[in-house]
Amino acid sequence: VKLKELSKFSVVTGATDGIGKAYAFALAKKGLNILLISRSREKLIAVATEIQNIHRVSTEFVQVDFTIYDNTTYSPIAEKLSSLDIGVLVNNVGMSYSYPEYLHDVPNKEKLFLNIINCNIGSVTQMTQLVIPSMLSKGRGVIINVSSTAALIPSPLLTVYAASKAYTEKFSRDLADEYRHKGLVIQCVSPGYVATKMSKIRRPSLMAPDAKKYVDSALKKVGVTESTTGYFPHSILVGPYSKKPLTF
Ligand SMILES: NC(=O)c1ccc[n+]([C@@H]2O[C@H](COP(=O)([O-])OP(=O)(O)OC[C@H]3O[C@@H](n4cnc5c(N)ncnc54)[C@H](OP(=O)(O)O)[C@@H]3O)[C@@H](O)[C@H]2O)c1
Repeated sequence: VKLKELSKFSVVTGATDGIGKAYAFALAKKGLNILLISRSREKLIAVATEIQNIHRVSTEFVQVDFTIYDNTTYSPIAEKLSSLDIGVLVNNVGMSYSYPEYLHDVPNKEKLFLNIINCNIGSVTQMTQLVIPSMLSKGRGVIINVSSTAALIPSPLLTVYAASKAYTEKFSRDLADEYRHKGLVIQCVSPGYVATKMSKIRRPSLMAPDAKKYVDSALKKVGVTESTTGYFPHSILVGPYSKKPLTF
């Protein structure tokens, strides 16, 4: 897929750090203007300025908190989207536990679980339905949904996070079937560990690359495969579980 030819703008959620920031930079490098959506205004301004200076593309941003699942979050996004020609959406924003824990012992669990569901499941669902009509009218568009290998392999002690990412997997697979013949590419990307703030891994390694290395690898798979870890070493993690037959 020639991403630059799809439209003028791409939109990335959770775009001020880690994997989302790396997607924003990689898409800008391809010449796409970027709409950044994230929580901290100062970081949005800093990343938007950095992208403009380095890649000479236009940037816009919307500051929202995706743990809030109502119109105060999605109306400003819808308004901004309506004025832009969006060809690529990266549903990247996500949050997890501070550390692995038994379900009943997770600190502030009622609030945290709702936040994870709103941020990880709500945002993917709402952002997708917001961009699809204009993509359909053009007969083209790419939606990249960032899941996790946690959705594919056993993930005890991170159950709500892992289950929220399983939603993204299932949503993406079925959505791809729904819209493939209408010209849309829907891809689910399921990383293993990437060295970011969320993973708390500071030193990148083969199994936990930095976000740029991960995204450079994952972007090569857009239009090639609809469901991918995005990075070969992470496929080794998933391999033993990928073809487990259902039993009854
Ligand atoms: N890192 C990994 O090992 C790994 C592995 C598998 C999957 N993933 C998935 O990859 C995605 C990105 O993870 P990451 O490691 O890059 O995370 P990260 O480094 O923590 O960055 C998260 C980004 O999302 C924004 N954000 C967080 N909560 C938000 C909220 N409630 N509302 C709006 N924006 C919010 C942050 O903005 P602020 O800085 O303003 O908070 C930041 O820009 C997530 O969906 C995650 O589940 C990550």
